[in-house]
Amino acid sequence: MNSLDQANVSLERVCKAYDEAGIRRMVLNQLDLQVVGGEFVSIRGPSGSGKSTLLNILGGIDRADSGRVQIGDRNLIGLGETERTLFRRHHIGFVFQFFNLVPTLTVAENLRLPLELCKKHQNDDEVRLWLERFSLEDRSGAYPDVLSGGEQQRVAIIRAAIHRPSLILADEPTGNLDASVGGEVLQLLREVVDQGACVVMATHSEKAAHASDRRLLLKDGQLYPQSVF
Ligand SMILES: Nc1ncnc2c1ncn2[C@@H]1O[C@H](COP(=O)(O)OP(=O)(O)OP(=O)(O)O)[C@@H](O)[C@H]1O
Ligand SMILES: [Mg+2]
Repeated sequence: MNSLDQANVSLERVCKAYDEAGIRRMVLNQLDLQVVGGEFVSIRGPSGSGKSTLLNILGGIDRADSGRVQIGDRNLIGLGETERTLFRRHHIGFVFQFFNLVPTLTVAENLRLPLELCKKHQNDDEVRLWLERFSLEDRSGAYPDVLSGGEQQRVAIIRAAIHRPSLILADEPTGNLDASVGGEVLQLLREVVDQGACVVMATHSEKAAHASDRRLLLKDGQLYPQSVF
């Protein structure tokens, strides 16, 4: 892999609320977070505490109500929908909690997509090497609906890393994997961090969190160092 551009991530006083049946629920409340290039941060917290919401805001998929969301030299809050989409294609890799593979494309086509979208040189050998590394070489022509949960998760992880983004957001990336494949995924995240990228991972797994450089807990809409609890 080539080296990645460094990206510093900075969230300042980020607020996000959802209205549900007329009741306003504050999910993120004046949340601050700083991540430097070459750092792997993990976020734990109870179900519903806002981990996916936070990653979606960091990835420009969702919009914060207020605050500052700075990635590299861009404040995502100031960008329009199209600009955010283009920024995301080039600079961010996202491992979604529920994978979000394109159902009408094969595994290999799903993996070529991020390269095509950011107009990176396509190399079928590279796709093959990634598939081999994650023991998926015989699933290249399969469609997502015939893959197991763990196979879909591995494809989703390759898709997030293949275009060498400067920020990888990983939502429960080891949730469906056995220990050895889970270890391989964490090793991949470590490799991209060593090349200068930032990784922010939401997880329920204590073991996965221990693979990160800094463990944070999301509680009452704010982040705390895990060591405090
Ligand atoms: N689009 C939405 N509309 C309304 N409420 C939402 C929306 N998205 C998330 N929420 C609410 O925000 C809260 C945080 O949800 P989120 O998915 O971020 O939690 P989480 O920490 O990722 O949970 P889990 O560990 O179960 O994945 C939940 O109470 C959820 O119901
Ligand atoms: Mg979630």
